[in-house]
Amino acid sequence: MPVGPREGIKNILVVSVVVCLLCSIIVSFTAVSLKPRQDVNKELDRKQNILRAAGLLPAGATTDAEGRDAGVLFESFEVRAVDLETGEFTSDVDAASYDQIRAARFAESSRDLSAEEDIATLGRRENIGLAYFKQDAVGALERLVIPVRGYGLWGTLFGFLAIDRDLTSAVGLSFYAHKETPGLGGEVDNANWKASWDGVMLFDETGEPAVRLVKTRSGSDYEIDALSGATLTTRGVENLIAFWTGELGYGPMLERLKLANGQVE
Ligand SMILES: Cc1cc2nc3c(=O)[nH]c(=O)nc-3n(C[C@H](O)[C@H](O)[C@H](O)COP(=O)(O)O)c2cc1C
Repeated sequence: MPVGPREGIKNILVVSVVVCLLCSIIVSFTAVSLKPRQDVNKELDRKQNILRAAGLLPAGATTDAEGRDAGVLFESFEVRAVDLETGEFTSDVDAASYDQIRAARFAESSRDLSAEEDIATLGRRENIGLAYFKQDAVGALERLVIPVRGYGLWGTLFGFLAIDRDLTSAVGLSFYAHKETPGLGGEVDNANWKASWDGVMLFDETGEPAVRLVKTRSGSDYEIDALSGATLTTRGVENLIAFWTGELGYGPMLERLKLANGQVE
């Protein structure tokens, strides 16, 4: 029996709605069923980035020279939640699941930064941060890794800074997300530049953040090469390191640890 123009339009609409519904069910099902795997990969990625900053996992590799993967290597780390205001450890959040970048979005879990304070262009700073402690075979602090972030030219750079057992010099810096231009600001990913952070002094004799990214090195222990042709990214990196190692970042925690170690009076 021939179908009239009205029937034809009705059929097209019914088929379109059914196809759309089917597609949305398939997409939703896939998204929900892949979520646990995405979470596992996100967690693995975080561990790998912390290990890379700490110099325990080569760039681009998923295992160390002895074939140990991030899961195994990360077992020697302890994650602690830190009250960034006082520098004291806190149990107010579950360190295993706490997301400090998310916490910085809400008024109740973060504080506003004034223009003068906000040298890393963060807007707000979370009240609690995480710190990753690696102990050596006899239980002494070997390395400490802190999350760092701040604005470059095109967006926020997210990374980790590893600090040596002396709580004064850097071991490594690694960014896991940024929007800087490859070949310019994107040189923050350059393996040689990252390696140059090993041994650089983070604080001057008064305990103030002192790292400077300079075009011409003078031989000072506080200097790192600026990124060529990327003055704005360079300034961003210098500022974010100063912020997170400073009074509004992990400075109070580092002071407490130095006090406990007898490094300062
Ligand atoms: C397409 C394009 C991409 C750029 N990307 C960056 C960048 O990622 N980081 C940066 O600091 N400057 C970048 N710049 C350069 C800045 O605009 C600016 O000229 C530069 O930071 C000045 O650095 P200099 O004094 O070392 O030359 C870019 C410029 C262009 C045209």
